[in-house]
Amino acid sequence: MKNSRREFVFSISMLAASSAFPIQAFAFDKSKKLKVALVGTGIRGITFWGKRLMDEYSEILEFVGLSDINPSRLEYGKTYIGASCPTFTSFEDMVSITKPDLVIVTTKDSTHHEFIIKGLGMGCDVLTEKPLTIDEFKCQQILDAEKASNKNLIVGFNYRWSPYATKIKELISNKTIGDLVSVDFNWYLNTYHGASYFRRWHGEMDSSGSLWVHKATHHFDLLNWWINSEPNEVFAYGDLEFYGKNGPFRGKNCRTCDHKNECAFYWDIHKDEFSKKLYVDHEHADGYIRDNCLFREDIDIYDKMSAQVRYTDNTILNYSLTTYSPFEGWRVAFNGTEGRIEAWLDIPYFENTSIDEAEKHANEMAQDGGEIVSKKPIVVHKLWQEFETVQVDMEESGHGGGDKRLQDKIFVNPEVPDPFGRTAGSRDGAMSILIGIAARKSIQSGKPIKISELTDLEPQVRRT
Ligand SMILES: NC(=O)c1ccc[n+]([C@@H]2O[C@H](COP(=O)([O-])OP(=O)(O)OC[C@H]3O[C@@H](n4cnc5c(N)ncnc54)[C@H](O)[C@@H]3O)[C@@H](O)[C@H]2O)c1
Repeated sequence: MKNSRREFVFSISMLAASSAFPIQAFAFDKSKKLKVALVGTGIRGITFWGKRLMDEYSEILEFVGLSDINPSRLEYGKTYIGASCPTFTSFEDMVSITKPDLVIVTTKDSTHHEFIIKGLGMGCDVLTEKPLTIDEFKCQQILDAEKASNKNLIVGFNYRWSPYATKIKELISNKTIGDLVSVDFNWYLNTYHGASYFRRWHGEMDSSGSLWVHKATHHFDLLNWWINSEPNEVFAYGDLEFYGKNGPFRGKNCRTCDHKNECAFYWDIHKDEFSKKLYVDHEHADGYIRDNCLFREDIDIYDKMSAQVRYTDNTILNYSLTTYSPFEGWRVAFNGTEGRIEAWLDIPYFENTSIDEAEKHANEMAQDGGEIVSKKPIVVHKLWQEFETVQVDMEESGHGGGDKRLQDKIFVNPEVPDPFGRTAGSRDGAMSILIGIAARKSIQSGKPIKISELTDLEPQVRRT
């Protein structure tokens, strides 16, 4: 793919222009390639932000440094990406020696703030994976650091970029069902994908902020964007009733477990070549076990979650997240003053599908697809009329085609107008996690939580 340096510089400026904070001039030298440094050489780092950038955009950017706390995985990551840059276990050394233009943060969630703040402070633009961070204190520190710097922060929200999510945005923005009054949203994680969160660091509140933040940040970002208002107040319930201490038995990890034959969740990581090379081969260096028991007793996140959110424009949201569904999929319904929109993906009873659930998850995470594989319906039912079905061309790989479109917007043809405002800045990143953080606080206190109590951000009737 041919991409010019000029286009890239312009694209970053365009992205920055859509964030809520003042835009600063970029000091990139247009005659040279963009210098990129990445921290966190785990699966997301080396695949989506590593190898894919090398494969698609190497004419306009180069990796100047890679960093991770695990030196062994770091070397594997460098080989996998195909980069020839130096590696560092110290982030500060990497930035001060290689002087990157852009830092990409793909470490575990609880550490994002550290590298965002240091990266901005050391004079780099920063692109962070979701979630922005895991609690309100770190969130405030990030907002302050971005304001104090003359650099920009982008949050990689890929779900907005799928054609299906975009069509919903278009229908709502066009007032197809009048003014929005309420939304019902349910997300079902299956016993492959849902379970995978409980096998590793995501199962610990201190590392992931719980799935209220780690996973639901995607959902709340979509909802904030679709509803086009900012959340005002949250009330939630949640519990841990299936994984963790609730399991009928437990072992140290899957591969050494005495219960292999009776556990429906048994997973042989040695049969998964990539997971073995990325995790097992380097666990001696940091003790990061990828096939941990999902019934281990130190899991302290919720596995069922439900919340009500009142938006500043008075739209009411009913939200739920399930983590051990027999299938993976989601559904949303929007009630407006002039009708109703219903949308869903991957509900097996609604479509003729023979795909198995494990394969479905692998497809979603894959980056190699791209072609249209099917049309997916959205039902628009106006008051007093017959319903209509809008068909949307849909891709299966890379989060419904969202992954590819997000990167193309950053690195290719940025001047193409985006009437749907899909680019996310730090305010979007904050507003999406603050709903999950408020939900956690509501469960703990039994009370509704106001978003304005969490940081200095004052929720607006309309998103800026
Ligand atoms: N947008 C999406 O759809 C999507 C999909 C997957 C993951 N993610 C995000 O990407 C990030 C990484 O997820 P992953 O699945 O690749 O996790 P992972 O566990 O595979 O990788 C995390 C890496 O970070 C490293 N790390 C942890 N703490 C560190 C520290 N203090 N300093 C340096 N390195 C450190 C680990 O050693 C590991 O190599 C997460 O924030 C996750 O939310 C986003």
